Amino acid sequence: MKNAEIMEIDLKYNWHPCTQMKDHEFLPIIPIKKGQGVYLEDFEGNRYIDSISSWWVNLFGHSNEYINSKIKSQLEILEHVIFAGFTHEGAVILSKRLCELTGFDKVFYADNGSSAVEIAIKMSFHYWKNKNKVKPMFFSLENSYHGETIGALSVGDVGLYKDTYKEILIKNITIPIPKDKSEEETIKALQKAKNIFEKHHKDVSALIIEPLVQCAGYMKMHSPKFIKGLRELCNEFDIHLIADEIAVGFGRTGTLFACEQAGIKPDFMLLSKGLTGGYLPLSVVLTTNEIYSAFYCDYEELKAFLHSHSYTANPLGIAAANATLDIFENGEWIEEKGEWKLKVESEKCKVKSLSVLEYNKKTSEYIWENIQKFKSLPNVKEIRQTGMITAIEMIDYPWQKRMGLKVYEYGLKNGVLLRPLGNVIYFMPPYIIQKSEIDKMINTAYEGIKALDD
Ligand SMILES: Cc1ncc(COP(=O)(O)O)c(C=O)c1O
Repeated sequence: MKNAEIMEIDLKYNWHPCTQMKDHEFLPIIPIKKGQGVYLEDFEGNRYIDSISSWWVNLFGHSNEYINSKIKSQLEILEHVIFAGFTHEGAVILSKRLCELTGFDKVFYADNGSSAVEIAIKMSFHYWKNKNKVKPMFFSLENSYHGETIGALSVGDVGLYKDTYKEILIKNITIPIPKDKSEEETIKALQKAKNIFEKHHKDVSALIIEPLVQCAGYMKMHSPKFIKGLRELCNEFDIHLIADEIAVGFGRTGTLFACEQAGIKPDFMLLSKGLTGGYLPLSVVLTTNEIYSAFYCDYEELKAFLHSHSYTANPLGIAAANATLDIFENGEWIEEKGEWKLKVESEKCKVKSLSVLEYNKKTSEYIWENIQKFKSLPNVKEIRQTGMITAIEMIDYPWQKRMGLKVYEYGLKNGVLLRPLGNVIYFMPPYIIQKSEIDKMINTAYEGIKALDD
């Protein structure tokens, strides 16, 4: 098939996510035939650098040889099995690994990020109910995003997605965030949070946060100290803390999990996206024995958590997740004749090797050095970075002008996928991106932003 044919059939039948479909009267939909490394390729051989990791999911490149091989092997054995009353080897291995890595005790599986959010808020509410307390509200942060299902939207704060549905959402109280990562702003925000906790804590089951970076909330960033302060408030007022690491988990912020930087343990931790290396839909809610034990009793007491999804703990998704963890555990970046290659089995004659997180640090430093030039553009307000997440915020163009979309179009014409968030252009590439590809990604964004004022 040719690009034009796919595009035509697509627009005849498909309704795409997060899209005003009428935009496609002027904006071509991009048909992708294959993915390799950081590249997506269409049916006529045009390639695009996937600088947003296909909505923040991909970690080790498209069509990663190691992950592919593990999914193929799993496919020969078991594609799926009901996860109520039955279990399977991959799930047992993955749950043990995740608990050992994070210090949690129990894993509840689902198949996407929003479902994990629904599960955590239901579980928290249900926990209190099992303890004879009805706490029907939740705290969440200003500018937060936790997904698109009704519960997840209720604890989110991005008006563009939420406002339309306000009449049907569950009760939520928003806590202001610090303006930036500074100590002064952090303390101010924590004081405001304390006032809100004092007033409402009796009716609130949990506070849900995106630790360190609010990705869909225009890549706003805050300090680990803010997270630590919120954990302390939750302890003081007996409220659960839910850490939504769906976007920031698995090395995106510099550590394997963002909560590590604050030195805290939440009551629930949510993982998805990078969990399968960007291959298959899977999510987990990690929690403690303390939570679990409130549901553990004779059936007749009717306290069980009866939530379920058909594809819970799908073995193919779990094979991809175990392969992804293998890469974190055993993967080494090896320098050979000036080129860096990621190998899962370590080799004897290596010149120099780095772990995935060490290599990411090197990559993020390179990105940071090279985006300094954006500061000289008159239409750039701020640049910021946390680990492998880098954002360039343009000036406050009125949203109706859709300047981000213009940069997106410029990117596509020049072989780079730069999906904006309003006036924010950001880079969240697969970890295997090489220097020459970073240069192209950054230069394209730079020229695209510069062209807006030409
Ligand atoms: C922090 C966060 N939570 C939850 C979600 C929802 O995940 P999903 O799109 O898989 O439902 C997202 C998606 O971008 C997210 O960034």
